[in-house]
Amino acid sequence: MSTQAPLRFLTGITTTGTPHLGNYVGAIRPAVQASRRAGTENFYFLADYHALIKCDEPSRIQRSTMEIAACWLAAGLDPEQVFFYRQSDIPEIPELTWLLTCVTGKGLLNRAHAYKAATDKNQAAGADLDADVTAGLFMYPVLMAADIIMFNAHRIPVGRDQIQHIEMARDMAASFNHLYGEHFVLPEAAVDESVAMLPGLDGRKMSKSYDNVIALFGPREQVRKQIFSIVTDSRAPGEPKDVEGSALFQIYQAFASREETAALQKAYAEGIAWADAKQLLFERIDAEIAPMRQRYEALMANPAELESILRAGAQKARALATPFMARLRHAVGLRDLAVQATAAKPKAAKAALPAFKQYREADGKHYFKLVEPSGSLLLQSVAFDSPKDAGRVVAQLKQSGLAGLQAQVRFPDGVTPQQVQAALEQLASA
Ligand code: TRP
Repeated sequence: MSTQAPLRFLTGITTTGTPHLGNYVGAIRPAVQASRRAGTENFYFLADYHALIKCDEPSRIQRSTMEIAACWLAAGLDPEQVFFYRQSDIPEIPELTWLLTCVTGKGLLNRAHAYKAATDKNQAAGADLDADVTAGLFMYPVLMAADIIMFNAHRIPVGRDQIQHIEMARDMAASFNHLYGEHFVLPEAAVDESVAMLPGLDGRKMSKSYDNVIALFGPREQVRKQIFSIVTDSRAPGEPKDVEGSALFQIYQAFASREETAALQKAYAEGIAWADAKQLLFERIDAEIAPMRQRYEALMANPAELESILRAGAQKARALATPFMARLRHAVGLRDLAVQATAAKPKAAKAALPAFKQYREADGKHYFKLVEPSGSLLLQSVAFDSPKDAGRVVAQLKQSGLAGLQAQVRFPDGVTPQQVQAALEQLASA
């Protein structure tokens, strides 16, 4: 068994869209598989605060949050095994965002790709640099850093476009650590090059912005129609076909086993009709998706169940976030004034306490002494035959003072029994 602390992975999903097959192959499926690796802890959350930066339609935010939650659960994410929550259920995240805002250079945020793209566009159009740029877009990387370091995640599986954000999160964590002590793990981006990039209906990357997607849990008939609309060349049935550059083939490959893929490649060479190839693709996708579709539809029909799953997830996440945030607040000086004032006292008192020391001399006998914090001697014992005997007298002195023990102890010159008695009482009340 490994004694190492588990490696923490964290993934955020912005709640602005409806998951499509490209999201499934490129993000959901690999993440669900990864969530089962031994020796890891996995955090998945719905980044609905981030969604507000891009979307001002409340019903779309709500709908997307529901669809994404239902998709991930239907795809096999087990909320018992992972942390699965909604960002806006964790008030510590915006709270940490502010602490990070105060240690983040504005210049760092000026260089963020998304913000720069917006200002570059304005510049090219001759408009004010910040025209139509919200402070939310500008602050996006800080909120994202808070998402990540709130849970001290080690690895953040992301696409290339997000690497800069992870590097900024590292910078912010390091700045905070430098100022206030080592509170945060420095996160690293984990870019999986082996994950397939799925082409869409038109052969370009499958993306909502190209309007070329195949819905993940759309009605079966809709999925079939979309698959039959995949762009192919004009080769007739019987004519050999190229797998190279065939979107249909690439999508098939993302779902099929190696043998199935080889079989389709052979069929291409032998001139399979496009309609037959599309039917094959539809059946292959349906075989993987159909069992999940039932669970998806059941969840979508029961929003209260989704809500309670997410709330339970938030509770689990906050069990970590709440005490951690309390430490961070303390670290920056947001403190309970009363606790601070009394906390200083016992510390000082503890340092000033007299102490018993037990030891053995060259004569083979056992002794103890009581010394002041300064090191000066208050009490010296007689010789005892065993450490146990010496210990017993020490325990009695601590418990009931000098009474009845005068024969076992000696007072050094200049030390009175009253002085010793006072020291013993001080010890007893500490
Ligand atoms: N910015 C991410 C995206 O657009 C979503 C996201 C928000 C995220 N917070 C995160 C991803 C924290 C990873 C970690 O895809």
